[in-house]
Amino acid sequence: MAITIESIRDAVGGLKALLPEDFRPEIGIIGGSGLSALEEAVEEPRWEVPYGKIKGFPVSTVSGHAGKLVFGHVGNEKTPTVMMAGRAHYYEGHELQTATFPIRVLALLGMKILIVTNAAGGLNSTYKVGDVVVLHDHINFAGLSGVNPLRGPNLDDFGPRFIALSDAYDLELRRAAHLAWKDISKEKLRQMAMHEGVYAFVGGPNYETRAECRMLSMLGADLVGMSTVPEIIVARHSGVRVLAISLVTNVAVMDPGPRGDAILLAETDETELSEMLKEGEANHEDVLEASRHAAQEIKALIVRIVEVEASK
Ligand code: 6GU
Repeated sequence: MAITIESIRDAVGGLKALLPEDFRPEIGIIGGSGLSALEEAVEEPRWEVPYGKIKGFPVSTVSGHAGKLVFGHVGNEKTPTVMMAGRAHYYEGHELQTATFPIRVLALLGMKILIVTNAAGGLNSTYKVGDVVVLHDHINFAGLSGVNPLRGPNLDDFGPRFIALSDAYDLELRRAAHLAWKDISKEKLRQMAMHEGVYAFVGGPNYETRAECRMLSMLGADLVGMSTVPEIIVARHSGVRVLAISLVTNVAVMDPGPRGDAILLAETDETELSEMLKEGEANHEDVLEASRHAAQEIKALIVRIVEVEASK
């Protein structure tokens, strides 16, 4: 079903009816896989609305994604904020227009800044599990061949038909992220590093093959994941400023792996061989585990970013 301005206004009307008249979220935050602890950043007074109660909202089916909006206040300046705890993905079967419907609803509700988090596979060989990457660009791998949330009739109330994405990732917000990182690093010595990088969006749901990882890396991607880019595109179409932060939850396997011409497969012990193959294999449990492990740090970072922005 095509998304219309009426369906978006409908959802906005429904949310306004549930919120105090003077509460309008300025900042939106999307919590990535295993990062539902981020919602603890949203302080009282707060209001929770499950996605199922909002007309037109897609409901996520992935474990580790709760599926509700949490309205409230973040940081020492008590910035009115909305957290999307859980998001819909393309691989679940949602069309990208539907998956990004919430972004349009929040834009119409008054959101000026969107902070997107995600769990991603590290392609850049300097990245370690637990590192944080501020995105400065992306490769919309699915989008280059036409899978784009802006496909279909343009919603002129939000933005023009053709939009530039050459500076999609707001420089001021990236600066705020680095300042915030410095601030929280002072308080707590950490093992994690912060980088800037390029995120490649793929459709999923399978993790990439070794050859695909090598290809994405060769094309200039530092990270790979199955979210974020559609949301960034729709937010930019609405003129919302964006910041995206990836947590490296696993390191993508780039090595070509055991091959008949590389090792003598016939002479290798079977257990030895299966251990070789398992090494570095991506799985959802490890992704969630890494996210949960870093959730408190990411939360502190996001709160500090909101504070840095609010103090301007
Ligand atoms: Cl390795 N690939 C993709 N596509 N998504 C991920 C990931 C890898 N790790 C976390 N999310």
